[in-house]
Amino acid sequence: MIPAMDLKRQYGQIKKELAAAISRVFKRSNYILGEEVRSLEGEFAAYLGVKYAVGVNSGTDALFLALKACGIGKNDEVITCAFGYIASVLGISYCGAKPVLVDMNEQDFNIDVTKLEKAITSRTKAILPVHLYGQMCDMGPLMRLARKYRLKVIEDCAQAHGAKQRMANGKWRMAGTIGDVGCYSFYPTKNMGAYGDGGMLVTNNKSLYQQLLLLRDYGRKGRYEFAIRGYNSRLDEIQAAMLRVKLKYLEQWNKKRQQAASLYQRKIKRTDLLLPLTSPGRNHVYHLFVVRTAQRKQLQEYLQRQGIGTAIHYPLPIHLQAAYRDLPYKKGRFPAAEQMSQEVLSLPMFPELKKTEILSVCQKLNNFKR
Ligand SMILES: Cc1ncc(COP(=O)(O)O)c(C=O)c1O
Repeated sequence: MIPAMDLKRQYGQIKKELAAAISRVFKRSNYILGEEVRSLEGEFAAYLGVKYAVGVNSGTDALFLALKACGIGKNDEVITCAFGYIASVLGISYCGAKPVLVDMNEQDFNIDVTKLEKAITSRTKAILPVHLYGQMCDMGPLMRLARKYRLKVIEDCAQAHGAKQRMANGKWRMAGTIGDVGCYSFYPTKNMGAYGDGGMLVTNNKSLYQQLLLLRDYGRKGRYEFAIRGYNSRLDEIQAAMLRVKLKYLEQWNKKRQQAASLYQRKIKRTDLLLPLTSPGRNHVYHLFVVRTAQRKQLQEYLQRQGIGTAIHYPLPIHLQAAYRDLPYKKGRFPAAEQMSQEVLSLPMFPELKKTEILSVCQKLNNFKR
């Protein structure tokens, strides 16, 4: 069986380092907001080239706290994409704000920035772009609109650890460092995943940083003094210690993902299968390798019979989810998102995937009879 994803192989490679990291925490016996979280925050900020980082409970909490810190609340509108993972939209709802959805760009599987301006109203306070599958949205035009309308930008980087984009001035910028706040998830399957839940916020803005520090720790400003009504959303020391091990490998693992993607691109010969495109000036880190086909069900079943695991990210766009039935969008409103949800199929993708396994997936795919 070639699995869609396998975390055991990675664990096998780094288990000694992980054991040493965990034992360091046990020896110190400080489990909340100690040296490991502080060090990881510093190392992650340095890796991204950003001033501040704040470790939190999950990617979902990172999004929620980022919106809160930006002052988003009741009667505000936040624009995001119609297709993706529900957590990107949940944070908007947790704040009491209204998600306003925009259709997708079928080239890069991200929000269609040409449709953004039409979605802006007098209530719009922020844009929440999601860098889906490992490739960043087109942040240049998005930031120009945000500046024009004075909107906050909260980047969802849950699938984009290490992704970069070349800006108009020729400089490369990492995901999460272009908008006001970047939100990362360390869910175990992510390019940099914890052994449980975890997340990180990054920003260059000192006052947002200070607000985020309060928000993730009950609003604490002294030991038992609380400045605001905050939350308990802290990354714990054990996860942080293990994530510090993983951060050292992130670039190397992303390269392996890119090599796997390039082998898929070279060896898949079918013209009825749309392969992912990398837009110019973007470094795609292939959190997922997603192809599109009108015969998805048949292809997925066929691959399953051949011992190849696949997955669907995601089978339903946001506006067709029961949880968002109250949004004013009917079926047919976002044709690209709806079409993508019918056609996308994620092939096996993780850094430890062997060349022989990729070649076998390609061969089976090429032999599929419609
Ligand atoms: C795009 C996106 N945003 C947000 C999240 C939420 O992150 P978490 O699971 O850490 O809460 C995820 C994944 O889990 C995701 O893929």
